[in-house]
Amino acid sequence: MKSRTLMACSLICFAISAQAVYFAKDSPVKKISKQSAAGRRQRELALRGKALFAAYQCLDCHKLAGKGCIDGINLDGEGDLRTTSFLKEQLEDPEKHAAKIKPQETSLMTPPNMNRDEVQAVVAYLKTLKSAKRKAQNGKAN
Ligand code: HEC
Repeated sequence: MKSRTLMACSLICFAISAQAVYFAKDSPVKKISKQSAAGRRQRELALRGKALFAAYQCLDCHKLAGKGCIDGINLDGEGDLRTTSFLKEQLEDPEKHAAKIKPQETSLMTPPNMNRDEVQAVVAYLKTLKSAKRKAQNGKAN
């Protein structure tokens, strides 16, 4: 009787650990296959944009997640706050963009001089910056 219980126990143990191994091995694969190809491309683009954001030293003038220029314009939540076309226009030509949104002011942002692919990647990155807090503060600015 005792040995039967022991056997049953070890069988259950074996089944549980085999399942654990199976799921541990399988779950990331399942996750990846669930992601759409377009979603994956978008994430890769945003990652490239993040690297470009660092390479172009945007934090010399901006603040993000407590880093960068202390008095700089905060980019926390920028993805919630601004549309893709707003961000694109700002990066392509800050001067022209400023003239459009605030005709009485000139832009103080140095034109980043990025090519079209770089602008697209940095915009994808900026769109990932979410913050409900800043959105609430600034209302529906667009
Ligand atoms: C020389 C300082 C400077 C640098 C460098 C700079 N910016 Fe700016 N940026 C500004 C200023 C100032 C503004 C405010 C609008 C203006 O003057 O054009 C601004 C505005 C923006 C805005 C719009 C913010 C909003 O919601 O109103 C975005 C987005 C932005 N910058 C992104 C970037 C990115 C990305 C880089 C790096 C490629 C960068 N900036 C580099 C100074 C700078």
